[in-house]
Amino acid sequence: MKKVIFSGIQPSGQLTLGNYIGALKQFGQFQDEYECFYCIVDEHAITVPQDRLKLREQTRSLAALYLAVGLDPEKATLFIQSEVAAHAQAAWILQCNVYIGELERMTQFKDKSDGKAGVSAGLLTYPPLMAADILLYQTDLVPVGEDQKQHIELTRDLAERFNKKHADIFTMPEVFIPKQGARVMSLQDPTKKMSKSDANLKNAIFLLDPPATIRKKIKSAVTDSSGIIEYNKEEKPGVSNLLTIYSVITGETIASIEEKYVGKGYGDFKTDLAELVVAELEPIQERYYAYLESAELDTILDAGAEKAARVANKTLKKMENGVGLGRKRRK
Ligand code: TYM
Repeated sequence: MKKVIFSGIQPSGQLTLGNYIGALKQFGQFQDEYECFYCIVDEHAITVPQDRLKLREQTRSLAALYLAVGLDPEKATLFIQSEVAAHAQAAWILQCNVYIGELERMTQFKDKSDGKAGVSAGLLTYPPLMAADILLYQTDLVPVGEDQKQHIELTRDLAERFNKKHADIFTMPEVFIPKQGARVMSLQDPTKKMSKSDANLKNAIFLLDPPATIRKKIKSAVTDSSGIIEYNKEEKPGVSNLLTIYSVITGETIASIEEKYVGKGYGDFKTDLAELVVAELEPIQERYYAYLESAELDTILDAGAEKAARVANKTLKKMENGVGLGRKRRK
């Protein structure tokens, strides 16, 4: 039997180059070898306020992007989280198995709730929903960026707890973090991660940015005054971030890129990098617009939800039996 991969992305804004390099770029590469489930996690998105129409638009847009980067619906299952009821149902059971203290310790919760009024309970119980996503498919491997590692560790703790306390039903998932590009940084403040919910649009390259915008954003990316193209995350976080992007896109090692730019300045380096990013994203954008307009997208998502529900409902039944929910049926 093939091993199972599950990953998800929130439709909470336009996807960034960080999402692409840290997660999306990997997704297509797994589909020949693994049974892949890729999810648009709209239920996670509503843990913070969202505009109803915009959320729907972004959900569809994300589906088209998954396909545009090379996900093949014949091989992988693409679906929307809220269209498979088992996710919310399983999340409830897992919420009853997680401690409030564990949730309060999550860095993402602390970051997103810090100093804010009107924080939803959903923001706190976000990780058990994510655990439900993963565990319902008996997932072996979860490809994500660095920032999701803590959530996967909690998922493992929950799986182990449930397996011991209720019924031994869950596969133990492993996190898969790319060696390079697991944390693409903001262009204007390279000590912060590049984020789709950042208010300053100059911080991120969005996958759908037109070429002229990409060039402008890379040219104005913060570097330092030394003018030497060299990887040093602590002292030169800006140029190190750009080197990482360059390396992931070309497949060249950082050392060979550094060598190529000996004696050249940031201007040359940034111009070349901008062209590389444009060349990487342009064909994705073309395919994206074609998918967005097509009825095929709905057919793919309908079939995806049906297939996902079939798999997820089997695990959900076992979870319900494990905790004693519902009736025992006599035949
Ligand atoms: P989300 O939507 O914030 O991000 C989607 C994916 O992109 C990665 N990522 C990055 N990688 C590198 N550099 C960055 N600057 C960067 N920013 C984001 C994220 O690590 C993620 O892999 N909780 C998840 C969604 C989720 C999920 C799941 C993931 C829900 N259920 C089950 C895996 C499995 C999230 O908010 O990702």
